[in-house]
Amino acid sequence: MKERLHELKEEVLEKISKATDLKHLNDVRVAYLGKKGPITEVLRGMGKLSPEERPIIGSLANEIRAKISEKLDAKKAELEELAVQKKLEEESIDITLPGRPVTLGCDHPLTKTIREIEDLFIGLGYEVAEGPEVETDYYNFEALNLPKNHPARDMQDSFYITEELLLRTHTSPVQARTMEKAKGRGPVKVICPGRVYRRDNDDATHSHQFMQIEGLVVDENIRMSDLKGTLNIFAKKIFGEDREIRLRPSFFPFTEPSVEMDISCKMCGGKGCNVCKGTGWIEILGAGMVHPNVLRMSGFDPEKYSGFAFGMGPERIAMLKYGIDDIRHFYTNDVRFLKQFAPVDL
Ligand code: DAH
Repeated sequence: MKERLHELKEEVLEKISKATDLKHLNDVRVAYLGKKGPITEVLRGMGKLSPEERPIIGSLANEIRAKISEKLDAKKAELEELAVQKKLEEESIDITLPGRPVTLGCDHPLTKTIREIEDLFIGLGYEVAEGPEVETDYYNFEALNLPKNHPARDMQDSFYITEELLLRTHTSPVQARTMEKAKGRGPVKVICPGRVYRRDNDDATHSHQFMQIEGLVVDENIRMSDLKGTLNIFAKKIFGEDREIRLRPSFFPFTEPSVEMDISCKMCGGKGCNVCKGTGWIEILGAGMVHPNVLRMSGFDPEKYSGFAFGMGPERIAMLKYGIDDIRHFYTNDVRFLKQFAPVDL
């Protein structure tokens, strides 16, 4: 019996040392130490032994069991360690592999231009106001001194949704909305950027939808010189300190007097070229002193308050600033075009 036990011990230890994975090792444990295993089998036969031999065999069997158990545990730890090692090796990152470049986006040139203009006016104490793109006939026209059947409505071919609703043709309705909210008390100082829509055929300089930025200042003692000074700062900050402005008389139903502002042409320095069509000046925006009717309709007393307003197209400004020759570039989103406005080379 002693020999049988020693034999078994050798046999198991050999199997343990040859086990290559945890499952295999567990099979060995079950096979040799389990209830149906050979060691238990040997112990069952102890009844036949003499009382002197019995404790000797018993303690030998326990010793062997303990030894096997110990070896099994040690091997298990070893195999587990190996498994971890293997996993780590498999998962190791090859840092010599060249990285995949991350494609960075950048601001759209229009967003960039609008932000720049917004920042400039915020710096001058203006707030940014917004209004709906689906606008009522009242705000888009009537509140701006353009009653129904007014011929100047033809200047802005509109997309009507119903008799009373349309896609706004300009950002000027935000003027009326802002003044109404101010409930007849100044000062009001806002710029209103947003999208507008016109029934125009798209070409290099026209689009059926584009952006505008409206400006409005209403307070006591606001004069035309305030408008001129503001526009002068705007032109110099956006286009460069060397630019001159000039105001030409014009007509808008919501301002009186009305002007259009030109800036001196940078291309030719005022001599005349094809960018300025030989005039030395480039038209930038429309402006004027808020018409008393407009003030009154939105709840301001024109005897006490006066104001100026202006409206410009960021597309046109960006085109002049960056030398873009076709307005459609802004909307077709060709990445090669957009990339040129990234702060770093993409
Ligand atoms: N709303 C005008 C347009 O779309 C632009 C404009 C002109 C706005 C004069 C103004 C202004 O506020 O005073 O053609």
